[in-house]
Amino acid sequence: MNRLIINADRKKGKIDRNIYGHFAEHLGRCIYEGFWVGEESPIPNTRGIRKDVVEALRKIRVPVLRWPGGCFADQYHWQDGIGPREKRKQTLNSYWGGIMENNHFGTHEFMDLCAQLGAEPYICGNVGSGSVYEMEQWIEYMTFDGETPLTSLRKENGREKPWELKYFGIGNESWGCGGNMRPEYYADLYRRYQTYVKSYGEEKIFKIACGSHDDYYHWTEVLMAQAGKYMDGLSLHYYTVSGKSWKEKGSATEFGQEEYFRCLQKALVMDRLITEHSGIMDKYDPEKKVALIVDEWGAWHQAEPGTNPRFLYQQNTLRDALIAGVSLNIFNSHCARVRMANLAQIVNVLQALILTRGGEMLLTPTYHVFDLYQVHQDADLLDFQLDCGDYELNGEKIPALSASVSRDEAGRVNVTLCNLHASARINLEILFNSAELKLERVEGRVLTADQVNAHNTFEELDKVKPEVFESVQFNEKGFLATLPAASVLQLSLVCPKQ
Ligand code: AHR
Repeated sequence: MNRLIINADRKKGKIDRNIYGHFAEHLGRCIYEGFWVGEESPIPNTRGIRKDVVEALRKIRVPVLRWPGGCFADQYHWQDGIGPREKRKQTLNSYWGGIMENNHFGTHEFMDLCAQLGAEPYICGNVGSGSVYEMEQWIEYMTFDGETPLTSLRKENGREKPWELKYFGIGNESWGCGGNMRPEYYADLYRRYQTYVKSYGEEKIFKIACGSHDDYYHWTEVLMAQAGKYMDGLSLHYYTVSGKSWKEKGSATEFGQEEYFRCLQKALVMDRLITEHSGIMDKYDPEKKVALIVDEWGAWHQAEPGTNPRFLYQQNTLRDALIAGVSLNIFNSHCARVRMANLAQIVNVLQALILTRGGEMLLTPTYHVFDLYQVHQDADLLDFQLDCGDYELNGEKIPALSASVSRDEAGRVNVTLCNLHASARINLEILFNSAELKLERVEGRVLTADQVNAHNTFEELDKVKPEVFESVQFNEKGFLATLPAASVLQLSLVCPKQ
């Protein structure tokens, strides 16, 4: 029998809401069209930012948004993106398609977008091709409250008060597109650049060092040893790449059970990576003062046929929903160390929440997972024991179920579950262990479809969307839930306050 025993009185830490964070880069149609349409556009907008996308994202409570890249961040010179738009310099976006960037979306527009979303800004500074001076000036421009030539310029450009900037990253993928550096060299550069990221506001800026990717543990070791005491966070990037390799990625929509299984197996690797990187961090920082920030993660498939391959536009199926579900469960389980994660990317790029076609917009299955999982934001992670069978294919196996359990301020115990099996439904007995709380009723929603490659299109917007989950039977110990094959489920266990 598959069984989930919830130890509802045993808290294991707080799930930082920033685990449900996102990432927007000047890449393909993420910023331009995805968010920015300009004030003159027939697409309804608020100061140039499209209303439909903002409204959809507000519903899932985006806590933090990373910008402007990505690889683009190490090419970005912030002074190009301020002042009257028609006078802004055009620059080359050489990394993503060799197209011209008109810089109409810059610091002011990004801060406005964050305010409209109700999200904290997380800005990634340029180390690869930018100077320390440039980074120092950007911080002064955005956050200093006194009178300086830079703050006067900010005021001339329409912003009187400084912005509250909480999160700042010092370079992106400095081992790769951000400068091809060795960790020893970057550690020194990090120490130098971060010195000039001054906290002028009331709150100290949370400084994030560029971390490793995949199992590049040596990077984490060197960074923690040589620069650990100067950072608040260290990043990690890991993508679930479909197909045979980075060069031969799989299709986003055309795949069989074998490829489906392989992708979930790759997504589950995140758990081992976090465990290993955290283990290294523990050696230098046993009190877990430095957060692990998984600021790029998600599924990376072949670009949609007929689109610019450097725009990284891909469809999003039920398989992607399961990748999101298991990844978020993994982050929750490591919440003592993982205090932010940013899905790549929020609109029109990679594992997007939203796809747009001109003025039209659709919500992907991944969007719906973030909707179901928002119950965990800032909740207390609870202890549980999950006994379940495996999902086996061609002699290989992965656990058939993945789960998270938390308790929110109102006393509700929220469970998220993924049934990874492509074709078998699973009966799960859920036992509720608590001296304090009494279970009154269960409310649930489920995301599933007949096919694992089911997805939403502009012709069929709601093919994959959450439905009310009613397959619950109570017994004297708890209840029995039947999880459909390939499904993501969210249950709220309602316990009246004693
Ligand atoms: O998210 C797309 C790209 O993937 C980012 O620009 C880069 O940081 C990573 O390699």
